[in-house]
Amino acid sequence: MTAEKLKKVAIVGSGAMGHGIAELLAMTGYEVVMIDINGELLQKGKEKIKWSLDKFVEKKRIRKEDADATLARISTTTSYEQAGRDIDLAIEAVPENMELKKKVFSTLDSVAPPNAILASNTSTLSITEMGKTTKRPDKVAGMHFFNPPIMMALIEVIKGDSTSQETINTLAELAKKLGKTPIIVRKDVRGFIVNRVLGAVFNEAFWAYQRKEATMEGIDASVKYTGGFPMGWFELADFVGLDIAYDVGNILYQAYGERFKPCVEVIDPLIKEKKFGQKTGVGFYDWTKGRPRIPFNLLDEYDVDRSWAVAVNEAAWLIHDDAANPADIDTGMKLGTYWPQGPCEYADRTGLDIVLNKLKELHAKYNMEMYKPCPLLEEYVSKGRTGKKAGRGFY
Ligand SMILES: NC(=O)c1ccc[n+]([C@@H]2O[C@H](COP(=O)([O-])OP(=O)(O)OC[C@H]3O[C@@H](n4cnc5c(N)ncnc54)[C@H](O)[C@@H]3O)[C@@H](O)[C@H]2O)c1
Repeated sequence: MTAEKLKKVAIVGSGAMGHGIAELLAMTGYEVVMIDINGELLQKGKEKIKWSLDKFVEKKRIRKEDADATLARISTTTSYEQAGRDIDLAIEAVPENMELKKKVFSTLDSVAPPNAILASNTSTLSITEMGKTTKRPDKVAGMHFFNPPIMMALIEVIKGDSTSQETINTLAELAKKLGKTPIIVRKDVRGFIVNRVLGAVFNEAFWAYQRKEATMEGIDASVKYTGGFPMGWFELADFVGLDIAYDVGNILYQAYGERFKPCVEVIDPLIKEKKFGQKTGVGFYDWTKGRPRIPFNLLDEYDVDRSWAVAVNEAAWLIHDDAANPADIDTGMKLGTYWPQGPCEYADRTGLDIVLNKLKELHAKYNMEMYKPCPLLEEYVSKGRTGKKAGRGFY
């Protein structure tokens, strides 16, 4: 299946992500059928799409006729048989639960034409395992949108162990047609690219806070005002949802061991009290009166180079594992989380030797795996690939 041949797409699940993905595809001109478990949820999904299209019309981003035509391209059903019959692609966006996703994939496989691609919007789960429940694992891949799909410019396209290059090419091409930038995750690694690098900096900050090296506000002020990041790590964790950050953290710990040792003292009490951040009103911060105010005068409390050091280290691991290339990692962090620069760019500008020394210094001080330099970083520095000043680094 090539991108030009894609005409009809099933979106499975009409929740937070599903309805947004449906809207994006229909706006681009694809015929979309949304599947959910009951008519009421589908109705709600469609209303959210209508609301969003109305906003675009109001802001004169699109014409009323285009909004109407977009809506007319979206049908809804609770029947997989009805939806799947003549689709070229399905994008699954049901809750993050492997057993449920496996069921969805085997059902889709039984109803969709044999050449249709089946993609998952999972944030963390194994594409390979989902593919195994089908007779077409070569046509099963990850297509990880960011929230909200209509606004965010990035899509991670993930290769499962059996996914064909043709499938990856088609989904990357589709991402471009949707006006997005695809980055390729070449291996089915947990956390893919963005959540994995983000998981590393969150963890470093949580441990620094736990050791009372800086306050939460001090870390966030330093990250924002000194580091130039759009949000502090605690603020961002609250914004993402601490329940999600907690689940991703545990998945990274299971996958990579001690390097992602979770800081249970910091996050577990909040999870137990269901203080999940912005969506529940309270997390690390109180959001009931709006966005937390991060005091400017604390901008020196935390050394932001520590965040960069663990981010660079995790980027090096991604390259070492042949899961991603430096350009895709940098693009992912800039478009997926609005970082001012990517970790590989940062390392090349700062000097890989400087970053390596920082990691060594932190490792000697705390004896934690997260600071233990990735062998790739050691190798680059030993070969003189220290970055811009040497003419060669990650780039
Ligand atoms: N929310 C985010 O920020 C975000 C970002 C990127 C990826 N994701 C991933 O996207 C997926 C969906 O997340 P969400 O936040 O949209 O969840 P959600 O709970 O808002 O929506 C899930 C929808 O799937 C429906 N559903 C459940 N079982 C179904 C079935 N058998 N068939 C069809 N529909 C079914 C539910 O009724 C619900 O409407 C998850 O895998 C999540 O990890 C979420």
